[in-house]
Order: sequence, then C-alpha cells, then structure tokens
Amino acid sequence: MLTFIDKNQNEVHLAFFRNAFSIKPGHVLVICRHKDEWLLTKHSTRGLEFPGGKVEKGETVEEAGMREVLEETGGTAVIKDYLGEYKVHDPKGAFIKAILFAEILHLEEKETYFETDGPVLVKGNLLSRINEDEFSFIMKDEVVTAALKKAKEKRLY
Ligand code: GTP
Repeated sequence: MLTFIDKNQNEVHLAFFRNAFSIKPGHVLVICRHKDEWLLTKHSTRGLEFPGGKVEKGETVEEAGMREVLEETGGTAVIKDYLGEYKVHDPKGAFIKAILFAEILHLEEKETYFETDGPVLVKGNLLSRINEDEFSFIMKDEVVTAALKKAKEKRLY
C-alpha cells in the first residue's frame, strides 16, 4: 500500500488489488484508451482528467464506470481490468475510488456531458503532460502515474 498527501492536504492510500479497504468503493476513476489515444473529460473546475464519479445504488463498480464514461465523454467503454483502489481521507468524509482500465469502442457526440465540458483525446506520452495547468490535480499525484505503469505491466496498452 502506497500513502501520500494530495493537493488538498488529504491523506491517500493506494493499492493495486481489489477489495483493498474491505468495503465496496463508492467512486470510480476510469483510465480510457481509444485506439492509440487517451480519452479524458474536461471537468468544469478541475480541468482535464479521466472520467469517473459516484457509484449509484444498485450498480456494480464496472457499471458505474461505463455509465460515467458515456455521460462525461460519449464513449462506449468495455472494462478490461480492475487495476486497484485508493482511499482519500477527505475531512467531509473519506471515500474509496476504484481504478478501472477501459477500451473505448466508439465515441459519440452528445448535446450534454453532465458536469463536464466533454471529451478530450490526448495522443502520445500522457505522463509527460500531466503537470501542465490544463490538467486536473487528480491527474498529477501518484494515482494516475502508478496506474498507467501497472496497466503497461499488464500489457493493457
Ligand atoms: P463532481 O464535481 O460531481 O465530480 O464531484 P467531486 O469529485 O468534486 O466531489 P466529491 O464529493 O467526489 O469529492 C470530494 C472531495 O474529494 C473534493 O475536494 C474533490 O476535489 C476530492 N476528490 C475527488 N476525486 C478525487 C481523487 O480522485 N483524488 C483526490 N486526491 N481527491 C479527489
């Protein structure tokens, strides 16, 4: 288990296995690959980040991931792997986020993308760009860097 402090000064615990915190994650982050590009969404305040959000009542984590990808980007996702989980100790209440890896079969243009400004495709080495201002803080900490490394080890891309 890896521990670090995020940009909000919250402690975060990260593990690359399922059920690391013994309860079902209430949030999901989906690392999306579309052909040879990364599919991100533009969060209205945080900037560019992988799609994700809350798991709704009655949904599996994977179903929530597919729904969030569709809502925030118009992408039809096939979940390829459950990479791991992280727990954010937010003072308003700690939450656990599952990290999924998905392949996007097709991208459909939509009229609304819920709380986001819609899809953004990034080609090439994403990790060399995450410190740019337009990227969300959730892309800049250990979670995404370690998850992309893990996905590469698993030959997911
Ligand atoms: P939406 O705008 O609906 O996507 O909600 P949110 O993600 O801003 O709210 P949420 O209740 O999910 O998040 C509560 C707090 O945790 C906020 O301060 C977020 O900035 C922060 N947070 C959300 N997702 C992450 C994450 O993946 N990593 C870290 N470190 N903090 C996060």
